[in-house]
Amino acid sequence: MSVNLNGARVLLTGATGGIGNAIARGLHERGAHVLATGRRQDALDELARELGDRLEPVVADLADRDAVVSLADRARQVDVLVANAALPGSGALDSYTPEEIDRALDVNLRAPIQLTHALVPSMVERGSGHVVLISSLSGKVPAAFSSIYSATKFGLRGFGLSLNDELHETPVGVSIVAPGFIRDAGMFAEAGVTLPKGTGTRTPDDVSAAVVRAIEKGRQEIDVAPLSFRLGARASGVAPSLVTGLQRRLGSHRVGSEMGEGQRSKR
Ligand SMILES: NC(=O)c1ccc[n+]([C@@H]2O[C@H](COP(=O)([O-])OP(=O)(O)OC[C@H]3O[C@@H](n4cnc5c(N)ncnc54)[C@H](OP(=O)(O)O)[C@@H]3O)[C@@H](O)[C@H]2O)c1
Repeated sequence: MSVNLNGARVLLTGATGGIGNAIARGLHERGAHVLATGRRQDALDELARELGDRLEPVVADLADRDAVVSLADRARQVDVLVANAALPGSGALDSYTPEEIDRALDVNLRAPIQLTHALVPSMVERGSGHVVLISSLSGKVPAAFSSIYSATKFGLRGFGLSLNDELHETPVGVSIVAPGFIRDAGMFAEAGVTLPKGTGTRTPDDVSAAVVRAIEKGRQEIDVAPLSFRLGARASGVAPSLVTGLQRRLGSHRVGSEMGEGQRSKR
């Protein structure tokens, strides 16, 4: 199922982040009215100043269960949900406190599920709507120092693909957009990790274009990554230990552990 973004009302979470910022611009360019959320009021205000009256900023902490309910109430009339906000969730499992684990699960998995649950029925009633869940290639390929993040992103993919099937007879669809390493802005770029030579990356604008394509063409799943990564993700579905073994030889433990350190402040 597809939705024409021109004039559509969209709830976008995580609009203050590197990728969310690009998605907000992409949706706005297509003529959408964007309800843009984040925790940082100043970053939201700046986006609103730039994009004008078709962008409405809403401060919401998605780790706060009451705030998720209020946000869903406020967004009741949206045609599209883009659940993009997330914490990195990287690092060794034993470096996490129980509270940090709960926060990652709440922001990355619980909030998107609750928002989808709250918003889809009125989309179905109105006869049109779409949900885009921003997952990750870490939602398809396991890797060391990514257990919490992967738990949320594998979970989001399972939720989205299953719900898309459940909604088959309705005019509402669900898409999964799964970026690989994204350069220039966002949680990977800010971690300051050097990738092994030849590792391909994509940009926030590539993710934004994939989100627009998912909504306007009704695509079930889009991976935003070079061909080698997309093929690796497919192979991982069949033989995960083969792929983790290959990744280890290419330096995945170093990358994963540096990422955990570089992203620690975002827990
Ligand atoms: N960057 C990559 O290479 C990459 C790769 C694969 C997938 N992804 C996925 O792409 C999406 C965007 O990531 P990004 O790179 O743009 O990350 P980012 O720059 O760190 O932005 C994260 C966004 O999530 C919001 N957020 C974090 N905790 C929140 C909370 N408790 N309540 C409400 N909002 C919260 C942040 O809002 P505030 O800053 O205002 O708090 C920010 O807008 C995520 O789902 C991520 O998992 C990213």
